[in-house]
Amino acid sequence: MKCWNEKESESRSFYKVKKRKHMLQYTLAEQISHGMEVSNLAYDVGKKLGYGEEVCYDLAIAGLLHDIGKIVLANEVSLNPMIVEEMKVVRMHPKEGYEVVKRSGYSHFIQECVLYHHENYDGSGYPDHLFGDDIPFGGRVLRVCDVFCALTSDRPYRKAYDQDTAIKLMVEDIRDFDVKVFLAFQKVIHEKNRRPVELSEFTVDERGDLEWH
Ligand SMILES: [Fe+2]
Repeated sequence: MKCWNEKESESRSFYKVKKRKHMLQYTLAEQISHGMEVSNLAYDVGKKLGYGEEVCYDLAIAGLLHDIGKIVLANEVSLNPMIVEEMKVVRMHPKEGYEVVKRSGYSHFIQECVLYHHENYDGSGYPDHLFGDDIPFGGRVLRVCDVFCALTSDRPYRKAYDQDTAIKLMVEDIRDFDVKVFLAFQKVIHEKNRRPVELSEFTVDERGDLEWH
């Protein structure tokens, strides 16, 4: 027979596990909503970088599908509190997603977007730790858009950051991003807001150009 403390401890740990919403356990609606946000932003960033309709359309498709690997993996992850093991699973989602879009006949460009949307420009990302411009262009675009859309959305463990705070957080991790893509992204956000985004590190002027301080 378990003593009271053991029961309480067991109950509390169960509560923690139940309360902690795993990143693979977002509802389909939440995942689709995130995909649509990334899709719209990626399209606009592609346009801002001067790409044509075909490339931007593919960026939009890739934005919608970039986390489809999570849906595949969600069926394989339990509520087991072994966070480290779960993190290993989460890191598999770009390759799982890549396999899905490849099987489904999407273009090589879209396949690369899905596979490399978690690569960081400084080589610290995954799955292949690609560095700089070795990361396919679409992956670099989705990296910026994905992080911004995630930061500006509610999560089970925090409320959404406002846009200025989200951008400030991204600037702190600027080494994760292709600066050319980041500047285009800044311009898109600036134009949508129709107001200057002022941060301690830099200011975006009226034309949307970045001025470092
Ligand atoms: Fe992802």
